[in-house]
Amino acid sequence: MLKKINHIGIAVTSLEAAIPFYRDGLGMAFQGCEEVAEQKVKVAFLQVGESKIELLEPTSAESPIAKFLEKNGAGVHHIAYEVEDIEAAIAKLEMDGVRMVDKVPRSGAHGARIAFIHPKSSNGVLTELCQAGH
Ligand code: CO
Repeated sequence: MLKKINHIGIAVTSLEAAIPFYRDGLGMAFQGCEEVAEQKVKVAFLQVGESKIELLEPTSAESPIAKFLEKNGAGVHHIAYEVEDIEAAIAKLEMDGVRMVDKVPRSGAHGARIAFIHPKSSNGVLTELCQAGH
């Protein structure tokens, strides 16, 4: 069902302040920034091997990322696994009794379709399923 770890999401207060560590310090390939209005975040992607780091900065105090930062400070927010067929993956997990935050996929960055598994069903780790766009 899973193809690979597509990305790890890290919540930050400022993309501008966070990017140099990953791009210049760790030497990851910077892939650009994008605003995901639906989730009230600006994201930056940095490639590392076949996976990415997704830095998330809130664009509004209402953003789930703003709430996460308030509670926990900056840090790992979620792990995203790439799937071939997100509807099939959601259906399979629901059949297994896994609690989904999203029973219907929503829009993520880069035209991807994403769905979150509830952390109660994934050992406290917010887990994203992600079907690549194009
Ligand atoms: Co993500």
